[in-house]
Amino acid sequence: MTQLLYIETFGCQMNERDSEIMAQLLGEQAYLQTDQPELADVVVVNTCSIRGKAAHKAYSCFGRYKKLKEKKPDLILAVTGCVAQQDGAALLERMPYIDIVMGPQAIYTLPSLVAAARRDKMPQVVTDLSAEFVIPPFLPSLAEGPAHKRFITIMQGCDNFCTYCVVPYTRGREISRNFADIMGEATHLVSHGVKEITLIGQNVNSYGKKGAHRQSQGFPELLRAVAGIDGLERLRFTTSHPKDLSEELMRCFVEIPSLCPHFHLPVQSGSNSILSRMNRKYTIEAYLDKVARLREYRPDIALTTDIIVGFPGETDDDFAATMQTLETVRYHGSYSFKYSDRPNAKAADFPDKIVEEVKTERLARLQARQEEIALALKQAEIGRIVEVMVEGASKAPANQWSGRTGSNQIVNFSCASQLVPGDLLMVEIEGACQNSLRGKMI
Ligand code: 5AD
Ligand code: SF4
Repeated sequence: MTQLLYIETFGCQMNERDSEIMAQLLGEQAYLQTDQPELADVVVVNTCSIRGKAAHKAYSCFGRYKKLKEKKPDLILAVTGCVAQQDGAALLERMPYIDIVMGPQAIYTLPSLVAAARRDKMPQVVTDLSAEFVIPPFLPSLAEGPAHKRFITIMQGCDNFCTYCVVPYTRGREISRNFADIMGEATHLVSHGVKEITLIGQNVNSYGKKGAHRQSQGFPELLRAVAGIDGLERLRFTTSHPKDLSEELMRCFVEIPSLCPHFHLPVQSGSNSILSRMNRKYTIEAYLDKVARLREYRPDIALTTDIIVGFPGETDDDFAATMQTLETVRYHGSYSFKYSDRPNAKAADFPDKIVEEVKTERLARLQARQEEIALALKQAEIGRIVEVMVEGASKAPANQWSGRTGSNQIVNFSCASQLVPGDLLMVEIEGACQNSLRGKMI
């Protein structure tokens, strides 16, 4: 009998992809997805714990599901993702109504955990985190989600131990996926009409280099191989660590026509003393040098970044150095956050914490300046003709469509003919606002 599945996903693209995988695995057991949790037979909450705020969001949503479970005792409530990994069985002490607690490595066993929870009427807890774990070969179904663009997980975990970061403790050590499995997944997607692939992982540019799952091909070879699949129009990747950005990877932006001119390169801070206390293993000079070389190879490349303000010990001068980095690089976009303590992360024990009001004020200043820069970069596009991949029709008015440039900017444009997501066309840019460009199809 068909049953209903509701998935709530917090956090990064890795979690989004994991949720798609879980939906497919339960879909193979005749579960259909619903967008109404009160109708569901199984609810999966895929949590994120990267920052304090994200973890809070997860905890506050468990309360809602408690009420649901009281009304419908047969409901199976599964919690996965980084909060599940981090808190494990301790979650059950606080919330005994949870049926399944599973870490990110256990998602492939979700159907058997659901069956066991039903059969045994006992909570199931699987939070093993093994460096020997092998990401299984997996052929994605195209039944759910957009048909024209897809993520492929190529690695998971992280070995870098930045002092603010919880990821090495929640996602474990860096594990690269088997090269042939990735190629199998990519070929399958493209043969089913997918036009754009984004290769995802915590630190994609060290793909294949480390641990038990060392591959004979590195990240540039993987990019070249995926780009070689006939029918793939656009290739993207995220996220990269600046220290692992090699000259060979920069050259890929010249050599691979389908590789989109966008690079997300988290800087975190513009101050060398903060970068060193963050254990980032690069100086701001080395970072800026890589940015300059990247732009020599690909002058039109759009850069985006992640920034933390108010890291322990951050002085006014340190923060001024971060503000200066915005001026020097001129990012197309940035994700910026107030530092928050995370369990196990070293910086949680650093003594010189910054008070909340200072963090708030610095973040507001940084975001305001970044918005000005991003808008100016968008305005500079006016008059240019750019290639856009169609994402879909705008809700209103009629004949309005939305798409993305290779540099990953949203473009709203007019076109009287019927378009399909994944179509590529040329658009003349006529206007710019904070979050998007506007233009007309030519
Ligand atoms: N506090 C604030 N921001 C953090 N990030 C990671 N850990 C923390 C933390 N403890 C940010 C970093 C990272 C992004 C995904 O989240 O900028 O690149
Ligand atoms: Fe966290 Fe640093 Fe690894 Fe990124 S590189 S996941 S910030 S430890």
